Amino acid sequence: MRIGIVYTILRQEEMMLKERANDLGDAVMINDREVILPRGRANPDLDLDLAIMRSVSHFKGLYLARLFEELGVTTLNPFWIMLEAGDKLLSTLRLRRKVPVPRWSVAFDKGSAMRAVENIGYPAVMKPVFSSWGRMVSKVNDRDAAEALIEHRSWMGNPLHKIYYIQEYVEKPGRDIRSHVIGGDFITAIYRCSDHWITNTARGGRAVPCDDEEVREISVKAWEAFGEGALAFDIFEGRGGLLVNEVNPAMEFKNVVRVTGVDIAGKIVEYAVSIARR
Ligand SMILES: Nc1ncnc2c1ncn2[C@@H]1O[C@H](COP(=O)(O)OP(=O)(O)OP(=O)(O)O)[C@@H](O)[C@H]1O
Ligand SMILES: [Mg+2]
Repeated sequence: MRIGIVYTILRQEEMMLKERANDLGDAVMINDREVILPRGRANPDLDLDLAIMRSVSHFKGLYLARLFEELGVTTLNPFWIMLEAGDKLLSTLRLRRKVPVPRWSVAFDKGSAMRAVENIGYPAVMKPVFSSWGRMVSKVNDRDAAEALIEHRSWMGNPLHKIYYIQEYVEKPGRDIRSHVIGGDFITAIYRCSDHWITNTARGGRAVPCDDEEVREISVKAWEAFGEGALAFDIFEGRGGLLVNEVNPAMEFKNVVRVTGVDIAGKIVEYAVSIARR
């Protein structure tokens, strides 16, 4: 089986995936900067059975997944999952069918955005629908801060910045949880501990193994909201119980592997091969 790994930069994750892909087939490394479609001579080798989508940019990964599907190549994750799980608003709509999520609100204009924030109450968290590594995730403590943020967002070029997605600020115990579910199987979870309220390991959060039955249960339920794929969830320990903050379709996992010893790349490749064989 020819297993494409579509990447932007070769991080530790892509190297682990490559190694595992070579155990189960032939890894074909595809730099997303070099791909031209439709297929032509100038292209890297796109004759694949399977493509594991690892582009850093959500949008590049999304379009590439759709194009690979058009070529008859199975992609992990599938296009529709990358679309919905890659967008914080669309994934909230899906997650809330199965699991508790933080209170949220959305608006599409300066004035209504202000009303949406007040509707949630302070502190609130405002975040773009598409970004990662905690970029632009902003805690809004009062009306002045909300007005300033909305004003700045309203002048940004990207129209997606005018989708004002707002959540309640969830008081966390100095950590949140990252869990992995692949093909419906709970794989592993970590706590991400930090003195800062933004706990991403990419922002300095410390990874600590998490072994908790409730986390397993809610993670599998959250996965069921999608029903296929290899997904990673961010979970908060709220005062009233666990809340699923978001889902990631093209996650980083080197710190999870480092502290849990679980071979996430191996699990991803095994699952991807199994769906490509269907
Ligand atoms: N509503 C909230 N209440 C409390 N903390 C939050 C809230 N939203 C986000 N955070 C903190 O900020 C971090 C980053 O937010 P979030 O996970 O929504 O975006 P992201 O990490 O940039 O996205 P991705 O996981 O796709 O990279 C969370 O892990 C959490 O620590
Ligand atoms: Mg996150």
